[in-house]
Amino acid sequence: MLSPEKVAALVSEAMHAREHAYAPYSAFPVGAALLLDSGAIVTAANVENASFGLSICAERAAVVRAVAQGSRRYLAIAVIGPKELDLTPCGACRQFLSEFGLDIEIITMRAGQPRAQPLRELLPEAFDAESLP
Ligand code: THU
Repeated sequence: MLSPEKVAALVSEAMHAREHAYAPYSAFPVGAALLLDSGAIVTAANVENASFGLSICAERAAVVRAVAQGSRRYLAIAVIGPKELDLTPCGACRQFLSEFGLDIEIITMRAGQPRAQPLRELLPEAFDAESLP
């Protein structure tokens, strides 16, 4: 269970990361702040492309950064869209995050307030490594 202070810190970090979003096509900047089990925070933003399908969401960018730094254990991720609008991770990001655990707390905004819920609630019956023969 994350303290309200930790949740607020993650939201703040995600808002700062959002400033670096590259979203010229959607004009929908998103920032993410991933809390590692070490207590460190890895941030990222969405990065779009003229070939739209190549765009990457902020959440997946954060996971890629963390893995590349040698960190694979995550406690939580805050995801903040433009003007702190309500937002929920896309299906691709839910699946991508699930590779590293369904207990990761997903922090998103609901009516201007941060809400935390475990990934397993957002991705029931997840496809995972054990689904493979
Ligand atoms: N996006 C994210 O980065 N994270 C989400 O949770 C939802 C969507 C991005 C993808 C695209 O660059 C833009 O927001 C509009 O869909």
